[in-house]
Amino acid sequence: MEKKECLEELKKKVENCRNCSLGRSRKYVVFGEGNSESKIVFVGEAPGYYEDQVGKPFVGQAGKLLDTLLADIGLSRSSVYIANILKCRPLGNRDPLPEEINACKPYLMEQLKIIQPSLICTLGRFALISICNKSVSITAVHGKLIQAETYNIFPLYHPAAALHQPTLLKSIKRDFAELKEIISKPMPKIKPEPKTEIKIPEKTNVQEQMKLF
Ligand code: URA
Repeated sequence: MEKKECLEELKKKVENCRNCSLGRSRKYVVFGEGNSESKIVFVGEAPGYYEDQVGKPFVGQAGKLLDTLLADIGLSRSSVYIANILKCRPLGNRDPLPEEINACKPYLMEQLKIIQPSLICTLGRFALISICNKSVSITAVHGKLIQAETYNIFPLYHPAAALHQPTLLKSIKRDFAELKEIISKPMPKIKPEPKTEIKIPEKTNVQEQMKLF
């Protein structure tokens, strides 16, 4: 099956999802959209009011800024793939809850498995932490290519945050310029994360041990 068809099939499954309470309040599931063959996937946090109304990611004010930032580096939303950690809107645009992330993240993992991007651009702190699967400071890593799990990741501030803070807007513009450089070169191979060695205790002879007492 083509990537596009695999995504369509997964989308149908997600549209019936009731794995968390957001399934009851949503108008639409915001599955994600774009080029299923893209080497770059942008991952945001969760749909907001406008995204919930139409079932598409990043269609509100933050989405307009994202469109501009993409256009500035010669990309368009149809040339990349855009998805979110959560597929349904948290009411009042509150932060995603851990149980919602746990319930929804497998769908994003499945999308990534199908698309096989060589680079994931995370938008905001929640997307960064969820994709890296560990606590990472966005202030420390934004605009730098990092590796975590099995991904090349380029962390970006969330466009919604940049809309409200001029310093973040400057940063995100600079980071997109850096992104342009990064995607013009071959992506680095993924280095396996160092695993902490688990020491297996040597076989102990119970008889010998008893003599010690
Ligand atoms: N913010 C997000 O994180 N995702 C959207 O789709 C819209 C706003």
